[in-house]
Amino acid sequence: MTGSNPLYDDPNLAASYARVTASNVCNAEYERPAVRAILGDVRDLDVLDAGAAAGEHSAWLLAGGARVVALDASESMVRLARARLGDAARVLQADLAQPLPLPERAFDLVLSSLTLHYVADWLGPLREFRRVLRPGGRLVFSTHHPSAALEPDDDYFAVRLVDDAFGDFAVEKVPVRYYHRPLEKIVDDVVAAGFVLRALREPRPTPDAHRQDAALAAKLRIRPWFLVVDAAAAPR
Ligand SMILES: C[S@@+](CC[C@H](N)C(=O)[O-])C[C@H]1O[C@@H](n2cnc3c(N)ncnc32)[C@H](O)[C@@H]1O
Repeated sequence: MTGSNPLYDDPNLAASYARVTASNVCNAEYERPAVRAILGDVRDLDVLDAGAAAGEHSAWLLAGGARVVALDASESMVRLARARLGDAARVLQADLAQPLPLPERAFDLVLSSLTLHYVADWLGPLREFRRVLRPGGRLVFSTHHPSAALEPDDDYFAVRLVDDAFGDFAVEKVPVRYYHRPLEKIVDDVVAAGFVLRALREPRPTPDAHRQDAALAAKLRIRPWFLVVDAAAAPR
């Protein structure tokens, strides 16, 4: 269970998330192309996909020649990922708020896409990512941009729980809760967990995005919604 997010835990909503995000603007034409451009060549890498949902990124990693362990807290998502990936990847149910059931120095790359903002304390999972990475390993993660969904009276500098609701996955909007973090805190936690920052990216939608949803594509072209962080495991 992810705790308080039916979008991922409820079997019907999880299936809807998988179906919609396979081709929508925010994921398929915005987040995934940006993350994959940063990842580059993944051939022969051992990769942990942490917060894999139904396995969109995992399938791409496998197609690129990586060996993949896909992890998610949601039983519904784990079932969908197993159905999609079959024996090609190991899929396990695990909560990023807990120590990972994985050995140290097992991976060359940890990818965590749009997942860390569901965890109250990032240091735990970030330290676990550092532990399971080999020397020279790399962490790439995406998260909500700190300036996204910020109301004029909100405290930018506070780490705080945001009560939001996402459309497109059911007839009614689905309530979703995640944590807002200021940029300074994001970078401080990455460094405190034992990483060296390589790059921060503020994605732009693909040229095709406007064909699906011209208004959303236009908005994403002038305001950041997600942030992608690229970090290297610091020598111990
Ligand atoms: C927005 S989805 C992103 C999924 C996928 N990476 C993608 O890009 O399509 C967030 C995923 O994080 C998972 N998740 C949320 N909290 C988690 C936690 N504490 N530990 C592991 N997975 C978690 C959810 O079940 C969900 O599948």
